[in-house]
Amino acid sequence: MTVKENILVPGLAGIPAAESAVSYIDGQAGVLEYRGIPIEALAEHSTFEEVAWLLLNGRLPTQAELDEFEAKLIANRTLPQGVLDTIASLPGDGHPMAALQVGYAALGMHSPDVNALDPGQRQEAIARLIAATPTLVAAFARSRAGMDFVAPDPTLSTAANFLWMLNGEKPEDLVGRVLDVALILHADHTMNASTFTARVVASTESDPYSVCASAIGSLKGPLHGGANERVLIQLEKIGSVDAVEGWLDQQISAKGKIMGFGHRVYKTKDPRSTNLQLLAREMFETFGSTPMYDIALKLEDAVVARLGQKGIYPNVDFFSGIVYQKMGIPTDVFTPIFAIARVAGWLSHWDEQMNDNRLFRPGQIFTGTHGARYVPISER
Ligand code: CMC
Repeated sequence: MTVKENILVPGLAGIPAAESAVSYIDGQAGVLEYRGIPIEALAEHSTFEEVAWLLLNGRLPTQAELDEFEAKLIANRTLPQGVLDTIASLPGDGHPMAALQVGYAALGMHSPDVNALDPGQRQEAIARLIAATPTLVAAFARSRAGMDFVAPDPTLSTAANFLWMLNGEKPEDLVGRVLDVALILHADHTMNASTFTARVVASTESDPYSVCASAIGSLKGPLHGGANERVLIQLEKIGSVDAVEGWLDQQISAKGKIMGFGHRVYKTKDPRSTNLQLLAREMFETFGSTPMYDIALKLEDAVVARLGQKGIYPNVDFFSGIVYQKMGIPTDVFTPIFAIARVAGWLSHWDEQMNDNRLFRPGQIFTGTHGARYVPISER
């Protein structure tokens, strides 16, 4: 294929970077599908484990296939002691996403080498990484609070076991299921920044621990997954329903971003946001509402009235933090929860990339000078 030279598309907006069959978005219609199945059907009927298998394999598993995959995940939840020691040595005031990056690197150092070109070795590594991620997140959250690690419980789902390892208490069924659905909603999302990062690193035939650690660095940013913790901080700063309009006026006139709104692809409400709002409502009906939800509803109305004509609507990060806050999860653990889910997507893309790999090595439009003279330091 010939590429037109000297045409730069900032942010590669709308430029395909790979062929992929993992997920699909129609940004005008607000459609998201995993392997062709609408996200709403998966949120209603599926589990995170089944969705991970679907993303990885391209079809829904049989009961025997799902049982085998779940058993493999359960067997891989326990971290090597050396990894736990590394996590325990990290500064407690560091960000949990940085701890997760360290955790992936440490896990790679304590695990067998992976030949990225070997499909069998890839499958083993994929199960190890999906299973280890919640344990890494919970381990750092506890160690920084001076608490002992909680061993994984093999009878619990990925979502419920994460809450168990985080809090040392078994979650109520509804809470476990709400987190399970939140993980389903975050598991993949086409060529977003962290998935692109993962595919770029994968294309060098690097190892999957580096693929995931790099993707974490990308997900952490406030324009990507890091928006979810900032949404809560923003709602807390607004403080009350009555303060919403004034805060928004100021934000718009200062050309500030409203966190949890806008998307490169969606020009209508993100379907994941709609689903997360339903989960928030379910939590509040059972456990009581929170003032943050009322502020959020008012902010949604006000932003859509002012910026809806520019295609700015709530994205996935808008309601997720409100749901996690109701579960008692610390604000800076919201983005790591995104990672617990998205690692299934990153690794599906890793596998897809390695099945038909070509090194990512884009061009550039050079804006510098040529033939500049080297000036000795004594003459500068
Ligand atoms: N608040 C205010 N204005 C916005 C927002 C927002 N949240 N999002 C876009 N705009 C405006 C932007 O100022 C620009 O206006 P103008 O044309 O007048 O200069 C126009 O809309 C286009 O914005 P852009 O930033 O060039 O568009 P993009 O496709 O690069 O942005 C985005 C996508 C997600 C980076 C952006 O919407 C944003 O920064 N949102 C806030 C952060 C956020 O919530 N991120 C989570 C994204 S979804 C989950 C995920 O990927 O992790």
